[in-house]
Amino acid sequence: MFIELDAPASVRKQLAKLFVEALNATLPTQSDAIVPLIDACVAKNGIKPADYQCNNAMSLFAKIKGKQQEFINPRSLGEGIMRNLPPSQMVQSCSVAGPGFVNIVLSKNWIAQSLQRMLTDGIDSWAPRLPIKRVMVDFSSPNIAKEMHVGHLRSTIIGDTLARMLEFCQPECLIRRNHIGDWGTQFGMLIAYLFEKFPNPEDVNESDIGDLQAFYKASKLRFDSDPAFKLNAQQSVVKLQGGDPKYRTAWKQICDVSRTEFNKVYQRLGIRLEEMPESFFNRLIPPTLEKLEKLGLIEDNEGARVIFVEGVDIPLIAVKRDGGYNYFSTDLASLWYRLNVEKLDWNIYVTDVGQWQHFDMLFKAFRRAGWLPKDPNEYPICTHIGFGLVLGDDGKRFRSRSSETVRLVDLLDEAKRRCKVALLERDNAKDWTEEEIEKTSEAIGYGAVKYADLKINRTTNYTFNFDQMLNDKGNTAVYLLYAHARICSIIRKSGKDIEELKKNGNLVLEHEDERTLGLHLLQFTEVFVESCSNLLPNVLCEYLYNLAEIFTKKFYSSCQVVGSPEETSRLLLCEATLVVMRHCFYLLGIDPVYKL
Ligand code: ARG
Repeated sequence: MFIELDAPASVRKQLAKLFVEALNATLPTQSDAIVPLIDACVAKNGIKPADYQCNNAMSLFAKIKGKQQEFINPRSLGEGIMRNLPPSQMVQSCSVAGPGFVNIVLSKNWIAQSLQRMLTDGIDSWAPRLPIKRVMVDFSSPNIAKEMHVGHLRSTIIGDTLARMLEFCQPECLIRRNHIGDWGTQFGMLIAYLFEKFPNPEDVNESDIGDLQAFYKASKLRFDSDPAFKLNAQQSVVKLQGGDPKYRTAWKQICDVSRTEFNKVYQRLGIRLEEMPESFFNRLIPPTLEKLEKLGLIEDNEGARVIFVEGVDIPLIAVKRDGGYNYFSTDLASLWYRLNVEKLDWNIYVTDVGQWQHFDMLFKAFRRAGWLPKDPNEYPICTHIGFGLVLGDDGKRFRSRSSETVRLVDLLDEAKRRCKVALLERDNAKDWTEEEIEKTSEAIGYGAVKYADLKINRTTNYTFNFDQMLNDKGNTAVYLLYAHARICSIIRKSGKDIEELKKNGNLVLEHEDERTLGLHLLQFTEVFVESCSNLLPNVLCEYLYNLAEIFTKKFYSSCQVVGSPEETSRLLLCEATLVVMRHCFYLLGIDPVYKL
């Protein structure tokens, strides 16, 4: 867990409050504060003993053994805790099971009322709060001229979701930062090549360097094969970094071509980002290094200026042997800026796991300098969120057939194209307008790419496979979006005004499957807390998938909605399901589909 969220709407938290009282009343002399251990019960062979259980009795008994005579074993301690549970509308019944678990069955009226209140107050009334004010998620952050690859797609998708999850907790400030790599030595080579091809910079059209990857390759070929060109390239870097206007213009031209390409991806995926590129920090590198120098952190190492950090053999290279700066130098300056100018409490970096050591060393260097607290639980904190590789069907790094890296725009277009074909093949295709087809295939296609990525634990590698992610039966966005559309059509068919029902209708949970669905909905907050405090979107995906399954396979298969005596209540339950589902879609960056 990275952070503790305050979540008054969480059922677990509310039960924990009751149990704090019960535990203190049972063992008033226990000097250490007792933290209640509350878990949702899991079904064994399809049967759940209760909704929640308190697991304190076993470990507590070991502590008080022999000291408090009235408790002869953990079970009798469990019974004592149960007797001391203060009366509450939440609880229907409780019992002690096995060695001393205190089992809780929640009151179905309380569940129903809680859901109804959420329908009136909105899902924001369930939002937890962060213990800090200013948060940044550094994500996407592709490099100019080196095409945005699938790794950046993962960073973009995961980072956006994390930003949305944190935003839901309403921090005072949340920054979505694009730390674009626009300042490497590759620019010397690119500019030298550009001038070779177009001696007159005014003649350059964006389209001439439109395929930046090909342009990069061609210039690299010149760089590796011609020593005179190589020298020219190296001098170009110096001129660029020295601020020569001609070189700055060429640099900007190249950057703009890349940006156009990045924006196509962001636009398709609905991603908002605020750019602060590496070049911005260039002027901050010397003063940052000077401060570190004064603190005595920087030493000489075979001509390079380096910092050694705890537990790592290799040093962090702050200045290269040739006097140039690198990725580390920029991150030293940018982190200094984030802590001291932007005054962030939490700084989250989303990149592939391969960069783990880079960030480990960066944070350790800052701790050594006293710029980050020694105690990692004190604020400000820095967190590196790593993710695994994207693999192709062959189990190797994902590449297109020509073994080039895959263009992200093409990949997204392909997902949309396949969805469009599938929509047009449906019997009711003629009932759809052109615009509906376009919008829906985008929502499903892009949603599928996002969900396939988010549903697996981010730290593992994942296999990119269109057929799998676009399957309408498995755990995919297609299945989930269809489930959502189906619930919308139930409400439409009823012909009832939901706003009216919310005001005057009554939600009750009589049938067992209504109760199961209602409880799952109410558990949204605690699942969200788990997902957000560990920065693991897959936890939220699993919840969403279970929600769709419970609705379809349990509730909807056993409870008639439209035309039944319980219609009003069941429509409200459908609406609550839609609200929670849509909120999950929102957090995952997926556009909902209302019609199928
Ligand atoms: N541009 C880097 C890459 O493509 C990611 C940058 C991440 N952010 C940072 N502050 N280092 O690998």
